[in-house]
Amino acid sequence: MARLLHIDASPRGIRSRSNMVADRLIAGLDGHEVERLEVFDADLPAFDGAALEGRYALIAGDPVDEAVRTDWAAIGRMVDHFMSFDGWIMTVPMWNFGIPYRLKHYIDLITQPGLTFRVVDGQGEGLAAGRRAILVTSGALDIRPDGPMAAYDFQLAYLKAWLGFVGVTDIDVIHVRPTYGDEASVAAAMERAYAEVDALLPILSLPARV
Ligand SMILES: Cc1cc2nc3c(=O)[nH]c(=O)nc-3n(C[C@H](O)[C@H](O)[C@H](O)COP(=O)(O)O)c2cc1C
Repeated sequence: MARLLHIDASPRGIRSRSNMVADRLIAGLDGHEVERLEVFDADLPAFDGAALEGRYALIAGDPVDEAVRTDWAAIGRMVDHFMSFDGWIMTVPMWNFGIPYRLKHYIDLITQPGLTFRVVDGQGEGLAAGRRAILVTSGALDIRPDGPMAAYDFQLAYLKAWLGFVGVTDIDVIHVRPTYGDEASVAAAMERAYAEVDALLPILSLPARV
């Protein structure tokens, strides 16, 4: 049994198209445990000013300043929580060609030197290597990496780049798009997304880490 974290980056609750599709995926993950993190409801501490200096201290190999130890303890707990899972499901709508700001905030908090990546001989090394991410990405327009509007994709391209940076290279993608248009074309997009889920489930390998 694998433990998965479902990082939900849509604030739309039951109206969320990406979550409708993720629900189908999660329902098919018999025997695996899925915990949900709604980034729009999560308590995400500010990552600015003094707290940010802690990151530069870590990069320099120095201890984090006493004044921001409490903030950094909270960041450490968030990273421990993220890193405790065998894999991640992410539901991510495209917002202004990229990702919703609350997901970016979460990513900025957990992407820390020595915690989710480290630098060895000048090279970055992701510490979440060997695990899987399943991305359920939505968008009003059919912007996808292999399509005619690929130049506008800073959503999936960004997510793949960030996951790669923290070491995650086994990435499955479900497209829920276009979600804007006449009823028939939106319904067809949903059916295509559900079909992608149904095709993925039988071949999905989700080993638990030992
Ligand atoms: C603030 C905001 C910005 C958006 N920007 C884009 C965009 O750049 N490209 C796009 O295709 N859709 C964009 N959309 C539409 C959403 O991606 C689309 O409605 C998607 O289906 C939402 O997914 P959800 O229902 O899971 O929240 C935007 C929506 C919002 C609320």
